[in-house]
Amino acid sequence: MKLNTQTHHIVSRLLPLSAVSTGAALGLGGVASAGQLLSIGDFNSSYNRNIWYMSIAVIVMAILIFIGVSYALFYTVNKFREDRHTAEPDQFHGNNRLETLLIGVPVVIVTIITILAAHTMAIVNPTPKDALHVNVTGAQFWWAFEYPESKLSGGTGTVVNGNELVIPTGRQVAITVTAKDVIHAFWAPNLGGQRDAIPGSKKTFQIDTDRPGVYQGNCSVLCGASHANMRFKVVALPPAQYDAFISAAQAYKAPAPATPNAQNGYSIFMQGKASAAAAPCASCHRIQGTPAAGQVGPDMSYFGSRNTLGAGIWEGKEREAHIQPWIKNCKALKPGCLMPAYEKLSDQDLSDLKAYLLSLKLPDAAAYWGKVPVR
Ligand code: CUA
Repeated sequence: MKLNTQTHHIVSRLLPLSAVSTGAALGLGGVASAGQLLSIGDFNSSYNRNIWYMSIAVIVMAILIFIGVSYALFYTVNKFREDRHTAEPDQFHGNNRLETLLIGVPVVIVTIITILAAHTMAIVNPTPKDALHVNVTGAQFWWAFEYPESKLSGGTGTVVNGNELVIPTGRQVAITVTAKDVIHAFWAPNLGGQRDAIPGSKKTFQIDTDRPGVYQGNCSVLCGASHANMRFKVVALPPAQYDAFISAAQAYKAPAPATPNAQNGYSIFMQGKASAAAAPCASCHRIQGTPAAGQVGPDMSYFGSRNTLGAGIWEGKEREAHIQPWIKNCKALKPGCLMPAYEKLSDQDLSDLKAYLLSLKLPDAAAYWGKVPVR
């Protein structure tokens, strides 16, 4: 079942409005960034399509009920107006036909809605056998995306990305969601529904899209000071490009620092800097192919190929401009950020760390940003 193009177009136009108001009510901010609209009316997602088909039927029934009740009300008010009836109308007790209707009609309505809901749940809830599995962990205030089916070549562990979820188009992606600390919720409205991320619990559900692009996601349960800054991106790539990304991520080994500045950044990352009371970044962050294996903070393996910083707060040029102040004292930029401040590092050291981090790139064939339009 597919909506025809014109209906599709009209509905796509209308639905973002409701998504914007819902988003605003949830504290999401309706419009994510320039040109990016959070929309439950994005019908490139089969989840959104199925929910909409069910909603149409329910909305039509609600309109019919509204018309029926309004008609009965105005008919009665008009028919028994006082100026037409000086005497009391006929009094009677009981009306079997009316009472049967009053019970029967709601039972039929509720039954239809139940069948529609059960039918839709039966379509969207089961995880298809060929789904791509991704484990999602929410933490204050960032996201880890782990690909359990994609083992690293020549090593232990699997592909992990921080704050940017890369998925293929045209395939169901089974998200198994949990949390490290408090309750969060995963929601990328253009791609499907939302699920709570609860510590100690694992819940699986599906997202998908047919259209390549970069989509906005947000934490959608109040989880602390930077709940609103707990964002993420979903980068949906055509299958061939997705395969290129995953193969490159599996084979990835961080390039050796190529300049003296990057070399200094590398040594501060791995060993810290005692004279500036800076602990090694490596004790909390992982970089594939280096001794850095920390699991506390976001994976930094191909930070240079990403486009966001601080769990989706800054993108592109803005992001680059914020790397140094971020390392220096992230709490000043994002309340509740758990990374310690490195205020004694010199501007040169910070700049060298930035140079090293930006040098961590996947091969060009797998560079996922810049290859797809931002939605
Ligand atoms: Cu995490 Cu709100």
